[in-house]
Amino acid sequence: MLEWKRVPMFIILYILAITSTTSTNAIASQNDKFVPQDNYLISCGASASVQLDDGRTFRSDPESTSFLSTPADIKITANNFPTAASLLSPLYLSARVFSDVSTYSFFVSQPGRHWIRLYFLPIPDKQYNLTTATFSVFTDDMVLLHDFSFIASPLNPVLREYIVTTQGDNLKIIFTPKKDSIAFINAIEVVSAPASLIPNTTNSLPPQEQFDISNNALQVVYRLNMGGALVTAFNDTLGRTWLPDAPFLKLEAAAKAAWVPPRTIKYPDDKTNTPLIAPAFIYSTAQQTASTNTSQAIFNITWEMEAEPGFKYLIRLHFCDIISKALNSLYFNVYINGMMGVPNLDLSSLTMGLAVAYYQDFTVDSSSIINSTLMVQVGPSTTDSSYTDAILNGLEVMKISNQANSLDGLFSPKSSSQLGKRTLTGVGLALAVIAAALGMVICCRRNRRPEWQKTNSFHSWFLPLNSSHSSFMSSCSRLSRNRFGSTRTKSGFSSIFASSAYGIGRYFTFAEIQKATKNFEEKDVIGVGGFGKVYLGVLEDGTKLAIKRGNPSSDQGMNEFLTEIQMLSKLRHRHLVSLIGCCDENNEMILVYEFMSNGPLRDHLYGGTNLKPLSWKQRLEISIGAAKGLHYLHTGAAQGIIHRDVKTTNILLDENFVAKVADFGLSKAAPSLEQTHVSTAVKGSFGYLDPEYFRRQQLTEKSDVYSFGVVLFEVLCARPAINPALPRDQVNLAEWALTWYRKGELNKIIDPHIAGQIRPDSLEMFAEAAEKCLADYGVDRPSMGDVLWKLEFALQLQEKGDIVDGTGNGIPMKSFNASGFDDMEKPSSAMPPVQGR
Ligand SMILES: *[C@@H]1O[C@H](CO)[C@@H](O)[C@H](O)[C@H]1NC(C)=O
Ligand SMILES: *[C@@H]1O[C@H](CO)[C@@H](O)[C@H](O)[C@H]1NC(C)=O
Ligand SMILES: *[C@@H]1O[C@H](CO)[C@@H](O)[C@H](O)[C@H]1NC(C)=O
Ligand SMILES: *[C@@H]1O[C@H](CO)[C@@H](O)[C@H](O)[C@H]1NC(C)=O
Ligand SMILES: *[C@@H]1O[C@H](CO)[C@@H](O)[C@H](O)[C@H]1NC(C)=O
Ligand SMILES: *[C@@H]1O[C@H](CO)[C@@H](O)[C@H](O)[C@H]1NC(C)=O
Repeated sequence: MLEWKRVPMFIILYILAITSTTSTNAIASQNDKFVPQDNYLISCGASASVQLDDGRTFRSDPESTSFLSTPADIKITANNFPTAASLLSPLYLSARVFSDVSTYSFFVSQPGRHWIRLYFLPIPDKQYNLTTATFSVFTDDMVLLHDFSFIASPLNPVLREYIVTTQGDNLKIIFTPKKDSIAFINAIEVVSAPASLIPNTTNSLPPQEQFDISNNALQVVYRLNMGGALVTAFNDTLGRTWLPDAPFLKLEAAAKAAWVPPRTIKYPDDKTNTPLIAPAFIYSTAQQTASTNTSQAIFNITWEMEAEPGFKYLIRLHFCDIISKALNSLYFNVYINGMMGVPNLDLSSLTMGLAVAYYQDFTVDSSSIINSTLMVQVGPSTTDSSYTDAILNGLEVMKISNQANSLDGLFSPKSSSQLGKRTLTGVGLALAVIAAALGMVICCRRNRRPEWQKTNSFHSWFLPLNSSHSSFMSSCSRLSRNRFGSTRTKSGFSSIFASSAYGIGRYFTFAEIQKATKNFEEKDVIGVGGFGKVYLGVLEDGTKLAIKRGNPSSDQGMNEFLTEIQMLSKLRHRHLVSLIGCCDENNEMILVYEFMSNGPLRDHLYGGTNLKPLSWKQRLEISIGAAKGLHYLHTGAAQGIIHRDVKTTNILLDENFVAKVADFGLSKAAPSLEQTHVSTAVKGSFGYLDPEYFRRQQLTEKSDVYSFGVVLFEVLCARPAINPALPRDQVNLAEWALTWYRKGELNKIIDPHIAGQIRPDSLEMFAEAAEKCLADYGVDRPSMGDVLWKLEFALQLQEKGDIVDGTGNGIPMKSFNASGFDDMEKPSSAMPPVQGR
């Protein structure tokens, strides 16, 4: 496997930090000089103005100025800063410390896109330890940083660059320390950006359609000069810094650098590209395909960058044909995240010449970001093999704010009650701004309050959508109201796309919900839980939804409801039921899920009316799917999550019988290392409960493993976990099945519908997995990963047998001899993958 060379982020940030102190007003080598309308340069906490080498002056921010409002006037300066202070911009040598919410407020003379650059370095101070600072930074309507801290890299300066859109005549930057912590900032720039720099709409991948980003904020995460050197702010037309691309090349040998003198670069007469987009320094260098010998294999040139899942990215590719000797001799493909971005890109017909600067933008959907990696590739045309060369001159990657109006996490800057009121003017506007700021502060505090579950509303919570279901989302009907501030379109389709593409759920009005459920028609109830009822909902276009209506009168129900939202907002997985949206109008607590047309697994095992029994292979696949979902809950999310109520009614099947784990109402985050157990009232369902949990009140992931063991026997035997109608020794499935298993006669209690299909080795593997799950002590139980492994292996054994037999029916039951288990083939090294998606 090719080694992914990743440049430590701190190096990048460091370079950015030390170089971008030159600037917008510096000598741009191009004639199109841009003069920003708004140009606020603040050296925070400094006692006097700071003059930089590039001629710019950063003014100080005395508390008396109209810029800053802070409850305590705390300024610090680093007088004897030890590390390479001479390399650092003087901007880092002072800071303002905020013990409580503090706001910088700037007058905006020209609404539109503005850069915000934030400089951070936790400089030493006797009184304040800035390394421990944890805080969030907002604008009026965007989250820029959420619970940001320096613990990981205390000695590196950090420069964050954002592009925000201002609507009114004021731009606020609000610093909010986490409870019992502080916030700080070393320097701030707020500078107008040229209107032409960022388009209002771009092509989106997938699918190829226009995507509106006019109201989104962007965070610049990568800006690369392909095949060239570091281009500093000094040589850029807009004070940007461009890094060399080599560290991001996946296979260096696949690329070679090309260079022409910058003065040979031409910009198109129609102004579709200007030096403001990127200076000639960028277009005059490129990486091109290294091996153009047709006898040899031609590779793509591949760049890989780290990306945050759940966010969309704006990718800008800069091209300029500096390698061809004649027109129309370069055709190549451009891929983003493995998807075709541009097939057969023919630069000379687009630009009508050689060495003419050209760029193209894409927004990529979060669903295409795999392993947190963003991949850009250029490579040979697939339709015409006579062209083998490909080039790329520059690359910019910008994170796009999500539907929660955030560039860092899923929490919105304000509670929804303040949204959609932008039309207020005058005093009303001022009040709204204050209210919004207050709302925001309250909301942020609520977000981090540990006992948040006790609050009575979840206005500030945003709901994710399982990104694997964006096609489902696209099929949803019109978005009648989108209170989370995304764009509205006439057709509605693209706003649905926009909302789904962000990985965040859609907002439903109560009226829509009423209509979809025929005003909560009792005969459409498809489930009931502690929180309330689940209804089948049908949208106008026929899309079916599962609509869970909270019952606010039950306190416990409310907690579970909120827990579920919190849990689901962190989780996305093919084998977890996805949340599509919510409604909180009229104090309702309504969650909208994808509808799982085949209902609970239990109904297909027993008790369901007239359902065709599942085959053994289907049961294996379903068990594997559910195991993957649980495995993801335990290991995949930021923090391990214990489901606490694993049972066959909480494993739902979609139209293709893909299993998805549902109902996180009882979920609790797994204990962290310091906190070795979580003691809570015993929850869960009788018959599935971990006996150790009863004995010691200890809840671990292994409690889910136990319950899953019961599920596996239920799948095998097709009977309930507890059946009080049966003789005493048979009431509890776990005990009963283990007795037979240990006698080596498990075959006697297998569901007769499948008994004849199961290959003995497959059964052995399956039963062994189930038995291990039911070990008395958690430590003796396997992890969900191990269980998954065994189940995958059981499926493989079954399939292998099916192929060998050629009948597809497996081996007849009579050849099965439970006592012959020891002769069975043991797992070899050719193991099935254990990985959940
Ligand atoms: C500041 O806090 C960090 C993290 O807790 C700690 O490692 C460091 O020693 C502290 N510095 C000072 C000067 O107390
Ligand atoms: C985007 O839209 C705004 C307002 O409609 C307009 O002023 C601006 O010029 C547009 N930007 C581009 C790049 O078209
Ligand atoms: C600007 O570009 C020129 C020409 O490539 C180079 O010699 C110079 O070092 C650059 N200056 C900075 C500050 O990057
Ligand atoms: C291309 O092929 C020629 C002759 O086969 C060889 O001499 C040359 O080294 C090859 N070039 C590359 C880049 O592999
Ligand atoms: C280049 O990458 C694309 C997408 O990842 C892939 O489909 C194509 O086969 C690759 N081409 C070559 C020559 O490796
Ligand atoms: C993602 O990472 C895992 C583990 O590092 C690896 O096994 C897997 O192949 C990667 N997937 C892709 C699509 O690169």
